[in-house]
Amino acid sequence: AGSGKFFVGGNWKCNGTKDSISKLITDLNSSTLESDVDVVVAPPFVYIDQVKNSLSDRIEIAAQNSWTGKGGAFTGEISVEQLKDIGCKWVVLGHSERRHIIGENDQFIGKKAAYALSEGLGVIACIGELLEEREAGKTSDVCFQQLKAYAGKFTRAHKHTHTYFLSPFPDAVPSWDKIVVAYEPVWAIGTGKVATPEQAQEVHVAIRDWLSKNVSAEVASKTRIIYGGSVNGSNCAELAKQEDIDGFLVGGASLKGPEFATIINSVT
Ligand code: G3P
Repeated sequence: AGSGKFFVGGNWKCNGTKDSISKLITDLNSSTLESDVDVVVAPPFVYIDQVKNSLSDRIEIAAQNSWTGKGGAFTGEISVEQLKDIGCKWVVLGHSERRHIIGENDQFIGKKAAYALSEGLGVIACIGELLEEREAGKTSDVCFQQLKAYAGKFTRAHKHTHTYFLSPFPDAVPSWDKIVVAYEPVWAIGTGKVATPEQAQEVHVAIRDWLSKNVSAEVASKTRIIYGGSVNGSNCAELAKQEDIDGFLVGGASLKGPEFATIINSVT
């Protein structure tokens, strides 16, 4: 882990029932969690209220998606304003399942991120390469392209209030404070095939370097870059030792309270 505060998110995806979630909340509420870690869980929308009403305030709540702008005639969508209204502090955007199963593209994701940030929601901005992209040596290119789509939109969001920019991704974008970048190699998600600590560290360094060159050295050093993809109670400690891994985004293992607590407490 680097110098930023460790950040662990639990992405529950499209899992759970009122009963299973109630048990998970009981387990999380009775776990002892390291104080120096930001902890967030992302329940399915329909259970957010239940979670908000019974989970300890120690853990913040993220949504798994949000709309690109203000609510209105957008059937089936959930607005940022509604998420804030029910107590969400974060939203997960650009997840590989939304990119590759649902078909969301960089531009759409960037628009959502910019809007969420402009409304004060924190964004867990996911990026990551497919197996064939890694095998073709394109890991960095893919990650940089996805990062650029976020950074470009943040810049445009900022343009509403300021007239001139000297750089395409100005240091002055205040919203980087509320962004956590989640590197999730698609081949590692839900497969049990975790990236090695060295593989993850290598990409995290490349991401930080990109931020330094394209945004600012300050943003590069402050932005938390977390890893996701088959993180569990057994492999988290080795990953957490890496200098540029500032936390985790956890899927399957976040559905088990005690194991999720182990991952939270793996901060080194
Ligand atoms: O967002 C977390 C994620 O995609 C990783 O899922 O089940 O491999 O931990 P999992």
